[in-house]
Amino acid sequence: MTKAIRGQCLSYRNNPFVKPLEECLVYEEDGLVVMEGGHITAFGPASALMPGLERNVPITRHDNALICPGFIDCHVHYPQTEMIGAYGKQLIDWLNKYTFVAEQKFANKDYALATAEVFLKECLRAGTTTASVFCTVDPISVDAFFEQSEKINMRNIAGKVLMDRNAPPKLMDTAQSGYDQTKKLIEKWHGKGRSLYSVTPRFAATSTPEQMEMTGAVWNEHPGTYLQSHISENRAEIEWVRELFPDRKSYVDVYQHYGQLGPRAIYGHGVHFTESDFRTFSDTGTALAHCPTSNLFLGSGLFSIETAMTGAHPVRTGLATDLGAGTSFSQLASMNEAYKIAQLAGFALNAHRAFYLATRGAAEALYLEGKIGSIGPGLEADLVVLDLQATPLLSYRLQYANSLEELLFALMMLGDDRAVKATYVAGEKVYAKDADNRAGQFTGF
Ligand code: GUN
Ligand code: ZN
Repeated sequence: MTKAIRGQCLSYRNNPFVKPLEECLVYEEDGLVVMEGGHITAFGPASALMPGLERNVPITRHDNALICPGFIDCHVHYPQTEMIGAYGKQLIDWLNKYTFVAEQKFANKDYALATAEVFLKECLRAGTTTASVFCTVDPISVDAFFEQSEKINMRNIAGKVLMDRNAPPKLMDTAQSGYDQTKKLIEKWHGKGRSLYSVTPRFAATSTPEQMEMTGAVWNEHPGTYLQSHISENRAEIEWVRELFPDRKSYVDVYQHYGQLGPRAIYGHGVHFTESDFRTFSDTGTALAHCPTSNLFLGSGLFSIETAMTGAHPVRTGLATDLGAGTSFSQLASMNEAYKIAQLAGFALNAHRAFYLATRGAAEALYLEGKIGSIGPGLEADLVVLDLQATPLLSYRLQYANSLEELLFALMMLGDDRAVKATYVAGEKVYAKDADNRAGQFTGF
């Protein structure tokens, strides 16, 4: 059935870090987005499109709102939902003390299904319509995730974590079982509906050279699949990887040696990247996920979005929450903290660039810009409607915003899940906020 939504619309068609804003910004003060069969069939000024629309097409008006492409979270761990905001120390201690404890529960399918449902609802409440998701080592955790994701027809990317050393026995596979389970899960889920599979070595420190070899092999044997992992997040982690792989020149070289770089490979962090690391990622088309709230929470360091996006070796980079090390599901919160991290390095991240990093930029990092991340005919109809009067302070503040850029900047500084009025997935309204900021209404679960 054809339907349409009407209101102020924002999208990007090019990268505002490298092109003038006029060549990137798509803005309609009174726009109409027409949707059918899960896709956007027309987008433009309401005045131009309304006369050509069949009279019976239902149109939902969103006043005092901003219609954007659904946010994309390039790197997040669903099994860590229950331990978001767990106090203490840096990466390795935090992994051992909380993460590896929580992840052991996901051998139980009911538990995994229940957590996946909570996780996906929180994504929708935050306006996130696509995520690149780490499950656990247990294939059950992947089935649970995709089963929930396909109920609401979300375009999500996910995979079984591969770990065959330096983890509790219950969270380890072997090089061979990891390979076999990954292959089976790819056959089961990759390209089923909107689900996409990501080969998921946790990070080099938890895989033996043999597992690294077989991980690269399984990914390269299945063109079109993704690969996700972590890199250069924390100084102690980098040193550990150096000790574990003494023959390799660098952390990046470990992944390159095992055939794990290239288009559709996306790595969380890169906080401590050297120029040579950026060059290798740039040359191979490998992407980074910038995880601001996580980097601050774990005291990992300050990622240079300036170097990644505007340096001599630009890297496709998307914004990510990295929850449970990240402290919010909201990509508005990620933008807020990304701005502050950049500020500490003397680079002011403007609002258009920040919104791009959570929408079209993230889609480009995932090589999905032909399907999601923008509003335009032929693209999938994943949208978020942001409420410009979500809180008394936001309403008050926005009276004094004198331009679109000022409005967006205030929104990313003051907004969070309360600013999400509705979320559309494949043309269906799957989430609507309650008037009193409670859990909201979900359709499809
Ligand atoms: N490095 C390896 N595993 C993890 C994880 O679960 N979270 C974060 N932030 N970094 C990691
Ligand atoms: Zn992570």
